[in-house]
Amino acid sequence: MPPSLKERLEQFKDLPPMPNTMHMVLKEMDSISANSKSLEKIIAQDPVLAAKILKMANSPLYGATSKVNTISHAITILGFDEVKNLVIGLSLVQAFGDESGIEGFSTKDLWLHSMGVATTSMMIAKSSGNGFDPDECFTMGLLHDIGRFIICRSFKKDLEGILKLQDEKKCPLAVAEEEYGLSHSEVGAFLVQKWQLSQEMMSAVRYHHRPKSAGEDEPLCAVIYLADQLCHKLSFGWTTKWIPKGVILPKSLPLKKEQVQEIAKEMKKTKDELEESWSQAMGG
Ligand SMILES: [Fe+2]
Ligand SMILES: [Fe+2]
Repeated sequence: MPPSLKERLEQFKDLPPMPNTMHMVLKEMDSISANSKSLEKIIAQDPVLAAKILKMANSPLYGATSKVNTISHAITILGFDEVKNLVIGLSLVQAFGDESGIEGFSTKDLWLHSMGVATTSMMIAKSSGNGFDPDECFTMGLLHDIGRFIICRSFKKDLEGILKLQDEKKCPLAVAEEEYGLSHSEVGAFLVQKWQLSQEMMSAVRYHHRPKSAGEDEPLCAVIYLADQLCHKLSFGWTTKWIPKGVILPKSLPLKKEQVQEIAKEMKKTKDELEESWSQAMGG
């Protein structure tokens, strides 16, 4: 009998550690003494990342009226939470940014998709007024497809098989993965567990394509599920073939259709700037 996915992952020795800067930021944010100075100190330890933050801070996305030359200035202009989110996003890109070398799978586009889902998830969290933590939703959005980066990097042969199956069946990639037996949601959840992130974070990664299976975490997973659909609809970064036509608004989310339309409109407006700023920060 071939090994199960869980057995394959347990034997897999190439699981990357959590990027150090991201680890420090998440740890610091858990402490009550977290403030701008402590965030600055963490960023200062990673000059490449610091340079990228400044590049972002000076991008049209944030519309700074004067040149931002220091991290403390960036925090003043962008705000503490925004810089913290940028640090997490950029440190993930640094660690997982290598091009996949697989046709139709630009790592850069995959990251743009993740940034789009992160931003949209944050907007949904704010709009729903359901007590979701917008920053937590941002990080969940960033991580939701992390399993895809692992598959691109370390399971290339399998990915070729999955892509072939996708074309044969004319189905979304996630469906082809399920059928093949290598789901990015499961791979991602395994990684998030290894990184010892929260139970909610793991649920969001595991169930972002089927929030109804998430038990008490269903509403949270539904935030990511909806954000993911909206970004595919808007062709934000990478998108998969043969996606369903409409956008499904999960019942577990206290959102009206009009609110979703408003979020989609807002995302459409900032799409070009967001894509450009992140592309630049990623060095392309
Ligand atoms: Fe996904
Ligand atoms: Fe996605």
